Amino acid sequence: MNAIELLIQDHQLVKKLLEELSSTTERAVKKRAELLERIKQEVSIHTALEEQILYPAIKQAGGKEEAKMYYEAKEEHRTVDSLVLPDLLATEAGTVEFAGRVKVMKELLEHHIEEEESELFPTARKLLGKQALEDMGQAMQAQKKLLKGEQRAA
Ligand SMILES: [Fe+2]
Ligand SMILES: [Fe+2]
Repeated sequence: MNAIELLIQDHQLVKKLLEELSSTTERAVKKRAELLERIKQEVSIHTALEEQILYPAIKQAGGKEEAKMYYEAKEEHRTVDSLVLPDLLATEAGTVEFAGRVKVMKELLEHHIEEEESELFPTARKLLGKQALEDMGQAMQAQKKLLKGEQRAA
């Protein structure tokens, strides 16, 4: 699996989990907490793989346009990881407020995923070439295993 295929597979999983989470009701407190935890784990590993492996390669191989895309995408990661997710984790899962925050997180992530798949990934394909994407896919798989292990140990 090359790097882009791997990341798209992650996107599909996260989108599915977000759909599940947003279809829960206030009574499903336990399910909401479980889904949110799972989303947090998946998103944090995925984001790390992009920021450690793919994004720097795009920035390095590209010019000003690519640098802009790089900073915009990183800022979107930061919004979710440092602002939206921590707020959500601190919100009572049995409330309407929780549902509102889930909706915002879902929209942010869907927008981000859409931009990656329509702009960033095609740019990466053009700039980096097949072999580099294969190598990065390998590196991502190894790194993912490591990070999953760390999450389980935490
Ligand atoms: Fe991303
Ligand atoms: Fe992504």
